Amino acid sequence: MRINKYIAQSGIASRRKADDLIINGNVKINGAVMKEPGYDVKETDKVEVNGRQVQGEQKPVYLLLNKPLGVITSAEDDRDRLTVLEFVKDVDARLFPVGRLDYNTTGALIMTNDGELTYRVTHPKHELDKTYRALVKGVLSKEKLAKLRNGVDIGGFVTSKAKVQIIKASKGSTLVEISIHEGKNRQVRKMFAAVGNPVQSLERISIGKIRLGHLKEGHYRKLSREEVEYLKNC
Ligand code: URA
Repeated sequence: MRINKYIAQSGIASRRKADDLIINGNVKINGAVMKEPGYDVKETDKVEVNGRQVQGEQKPVYLLLNKPLGVITSAEDDRDRLTVLEFVKDVDARLFPVGRLDYNTTGALIMTNDGELTYRVTHPKHELDKTYRALVKGVLSKEKLAKLRNGVDIGGFVTSKAKVQIIKASKGSTLVEISIHEGKNRQVRKMFAAVGNPVQSLERISIGKIRLGHLKEGHYRKLSREEVEYLKNC
């Protein structure tokens, strides 16, 4: 099997990214750097990417985790904080989070070892709507709602149209549901900050048609076949 396909099937990266890793000298075969994207991996080869051994083809696994508060989405942390991988330890596959959620955001996070699917779902051109429940400080006036819906400047970037709906307004805060398809860093927090209503808590409740439902924080479930097909065709 070609080396880029081998790496993609291990879940580390899409084939395209695997080609970059190879060309940039991040891949070793049996201890020696290998920069040939057409290399055919043999059964006895030991393949390493960035110093880590790669397993080759794995059974694809697709999970939805309810990410708890105070957990990071990257696979490793230099500050020793808890990562999402801790919550899927009993799964016999090398899983990666699909996209990111902030340390202080809870909710829906897809995890898989399918590098192609990760690439597809996170690519901006697929524009999957992601819906969040945000508890924000203060009152959201009609003008502010219109701004959030039509686009706000979050610092050099004007957001595109968003669906925004007030769920509950109490004295000091407002519970809002917001759907966006862009994925700028801390976008939802920045959008509310831009209209003067800082986010107090944030939960992602769906990724496209994949809904968090009643999944408890720190728990995960397998995606159904229909959900996986939906993501593959998004
Ligand atoms: N927007 C944010 O501000 N944070 C998240 O974690 C996701 C979207």
